[in-house]
Amino acid sequence: MKDLDWSNLSFGYMPTDYNVRCYYRNGKWGEIEVCSDEYIKLHMASTCLHYGQEAFEGLKAYRGKDGKVRVFRMDENAARLQSTCRGILMPEVPTELFEEMVKKVVRLNQEFIPTYESGATLYVRPLLIGTSAQVGVHPSTEYLFTIFVTPVGPYFKGGFSTNPYVIIRDYDRSAPLGTGIYKVGGNYAASLKANALAHEKGYACEFYLDAKEKKYMDECGAANFFGIKNNTYVTPKSTSILPSITNKSLMQLAEDLGMKVERRQIPEDELETFEEAGACGTAAVISPISYIDDLDTGKRYDFGAEPGKISKKLYDTLRAIQYGDEEDKHGWVSIVID
Ligand SMILES: Cc1ncc(COP(=O)(O)O)c(C=O)c1O
Repeated sequence: MKDLDWSNLSFGYMPTDYNVRCYYRNGKWGEIEVCSDEYIKLHMASTCLHYGQEAFEGLKAYRGKDGKVRVFRMDENAARLQSTCRGILMPEVPTELFEEMVKKVVRLNQEFIPTYESGATLYVRPLLIGTSAQVGVHPSTEYLFTIFVTPVGPYFKGGFSTNPYVIIRDYDRSAPLGTGIYKVGGNYAASLKANALAHEKGYACEFYLDAKEKKYMDECGAANFFGIKNNTYVTPKSTSILPSITNKSLMQLAEDLGMKVERRQIPEDELETFEEAGACGTAAVISPISYIDDLDTGKRYDFGAEPGKISKKLYDTLRAIQYGDEEDKHGWVSIVID
């Protein structure tokens, strides 16, 4: 294993030894190639560069106490990528190909998988891009699907803790019938200004309201939202948010804990009634929210400076499954290195 200060790694890019690539040409996917070059030779007229024919995914590999390396629900990442492909007219990457490439790239870079104790993980980043030259707005005929990995530090360096969030009304990340439900780069470009503004004002992240009515909670930065009250897990139903795999898993775990789960529109006002609130995604699992400010109305919705009990329980349970410390009742985990 590499001699790195795993616990102090940031969520940044660090080169590893290999990436894997697969090309789509003449209507079919080719063989998986192993590559040690970090660069891609690309035609300057590629559709990914001009027309945003680009999609990505994000998942992690976890080294367990038992030394085994697990990945979490990669079939769900494959399915979400396929949905994105249908959304922006790219050929779907078959689940078997996706899974084989994830396993291969993790195994090839096993020296970069952080230790169990560090709380750090190996982040896996699949990327699909349109590579044929076009000047008219048309889908590409050729594609590159590549996966690289990079070790990332633990999200909570000082332990599970809360952060303040802010509702920003001056920007929309995506439209109700737009690409918010797909994991395409354009959505993230659209979020950069609001995210910078939130950071400038001292918040962890920006919240978006639904773009049409500016009334309902959508999501925050690169995470879904949930609130907890009366033993119920409530999370937004919206056509402009990314279907989070962490959120889907938390809904199941909440149900397993005997809680009610509601997926529905959440009017901003309802925030007042939540006992706990959190942002959820692969990066943090759960990032508990201390308060949410609405800058335009001057309202503050307070959830407390300490993480709530249920959030903590859900966080601990999901992490324990990911690291192999708890029984994987739902079959979410694949052992990649035994
Ligand atoms: C916009 C957005 N929402 C939510 C999520 C959380 O999704 P997941 O739990 O699959 O990581 C992500 C991260 O992938 C995201 O980029």
